[in-house]
Amino acid sequence: MTDRYAVIGNPVAHSRSPDIYTAFARATAQDIEYLRLLAPVEGFGATVASFRDAGGRGASITVPFKQAAFRLADAFSERARIAGAVNTLQFSPGQIFGDNTDGIGLVRDVAQNLGIAIAGKRLLLLGAGGAARGAMGPLLNQKPAFLVIANRTEARAAELAAQFAAAAAGTVASLSFAALSGRQFDIVINATAASLAGEATPLPEGLYAAGALAYDMMYAKGDTPFMTAARAQGAQVADGLGMLVEQAAESFFLWRGVRPATRPVLESLRRAL
Ligand code: ATR
Repeated sequence: MTDRYAVIGNPVAHSRSPDIYTAFARATAQDIEYLRLLAPVEGFGATVASFRDAGGRGASITVPFKQAAFRLADAFSERARIAGAVNTLQFSPGQIFGDNTDGIGLVRDVAQNLGIAIAGKRLLLLGAGGAARGAMGPLLNQKPAFLVIANRTEARAAELAAQFAAAAAGTVASLSFAALSGRQFDIVINATAASLAGEATPLPEGLYAAGALAYDMMYAKGDTPFMTAARAQGAQVADGLGMLVEQAAESFFLWRGVRPATRPVLESLRRAL
């Protein structure tokens, strides 16, 4: 029997997940089928229920349903509970288990694919929405020197920093964009949706320490506006395609108990952009 999985989102037609999981399954000899499912904005729960009733074993959850998936699940991984958002559901009789593999996907891409250690580094996280929240726990687990959150709406950054202040005493703070002036960072992660609007968050000159990494969670064929601006300031840059593949590998591991090689899949996705 072929096990069925799906990516559920709205929109979902652009999702690369079917290509990624099909490649993982082929490489690890797993017999799975993986579909795209468009859920109505008000119909996420019903879409999950009918897929599960039809024998679905699990689902990847994308925009705008990660928080709805958190509310739907009845058991969680610790990392999903901390993030308050779920990107992976696993169905078993009597239970919907929710996990969040986005943050570990980011950490693996930086640490393994790019070969840049996070431990001891000065981190700046731009944004305070779902994408930023999901990254906080896994980033702090790597023991950076400190992590500063900056966001267009300052109060959201302060709120997110406060949530993690107890768990990471003295190492998490929030600053306004203007207050970043005069500070330097080794790793700057863009978790804002600014690139979607073709914009780059305005950052002060001199923000990037020598050899710093500017990482955009978004990806595009060429550089995103954030990457273009960072390159002009001498930073090395990366987009979020590797994070996409790494989070999928972690979800595949949850579902199938097998860890697929990610590099060949990342290379083929990159060629197809
Ligand atoms: P996601 O789940 O993708 O993080 P979100 O919760 O809507 O989506 O959060 C979007 C993030 O991008 C927020 O941090 C938002 O800043 P605000 O909290 O001030 O709204 C940020 N963002 C969106 N458009 C932006 C822009 N043009 N410039 C800077 N930040 C932007």
